[in-house]
Amino acid sequence: MQIFHTVQGLRQPLAQARREGKRIGFVPTMGNLHDAHIELVKRAQQTNDLVVCSIFVNGLQFGLNEDWDKYPRTFEDDCAKLRAVGCDFLFHPDDKEMYPNGLDTQSRVICPTMTDVLCGASRPGHFEGVTTVVTKLFNIVQPDEAIFGAKDFQQLAVIRRMAEDLCVPVEITAAPIHREVDGLAMSSRNGYLSAAERPRANQLNVSLRWIVSQIEQGNRDFPALEAEAKRQIDTAGFKPDYISVCNSKTLELAAQDDKDITVLGAMYTSGARLIDNISLN
Ligand code: PAF
Repeated sequence: MQIFHTVQGLRQPLAQARREGKRIGFVPTMGNLHDAHIELVKRAQQTNDLVVCSIFVNGLQFGLNEDWDKYPRTFEDDCAKLRAVGCDFLFHPDDKEMYPNGLDTQSRVICPTMTDVLCGASRPGHFEGVTTVVTKLFNIVQPDEAIFGAKDFQQLAVIRRMAEDLCVPVEITAAPIHREVDGLAMSSRNGYLSAAERPRANQLNVSLRWIVSQIEQGNRDFPALEAEAKRQIDTAGFKPDYISVCNSKTLELAAQDDKDITVLGAMYTSGARLIDNISLN
């Protein structure tokens, strides 16, 4: 695996690969890689000739009181995992390389829909940071296909919309959520769970599955289902952030006759905020 720390350094071999007619797949990450990230790389390998992974903990998408400085940086471990799976290129820029003019004056990419609800309501500015860095990464790598995990359902929807609105020539692929045996969605933030919390941390998934089973049985009282799921999470000792039954395309609250529905949720543990979702159609 070749490692690049600069935009210029990466661009040259990618241009050569493109001249050779290679199809380029891209997996953007913030590092601290676990099995779900490795599945994204494997998915990219299935449909591309060359796979680029990026590791960059993007300060622009973290709020002032969030975990940017304590976000785990595990570069050597990450490299070993990427080498083992046969990733071709790793792009690992530092802050100066990604934001040479500083964050304050950085031009931003704003998606005006779907960004101030759900996770966006609790994390103001988060999606602006995501769409800005992902646009930069797309411009740097110019991939034919980019793979994102479906756990970040809202992020995926926002990035799809941004790419469509800005005519970015990239195919965006969603990879299924990778889960632990008890249903907990894999996430770098699971590392913040205490030993006492971990056995109960699948509660978010349990409650989302409970809502799905209710809807499948014909219960369409969505506000009541959301309220009961929050109560379950609270009883398990966690603080619910939101539980929402949404239209999968618009992320607006689902209408009674909506068929394409996704149930999304977020909850706070003592040291982390976890998210999950399940789609039904
Ligand atoms: O999902 C993530 O890890 C990040 O939001 C992303 C897409 C790499 C942008 O920083």
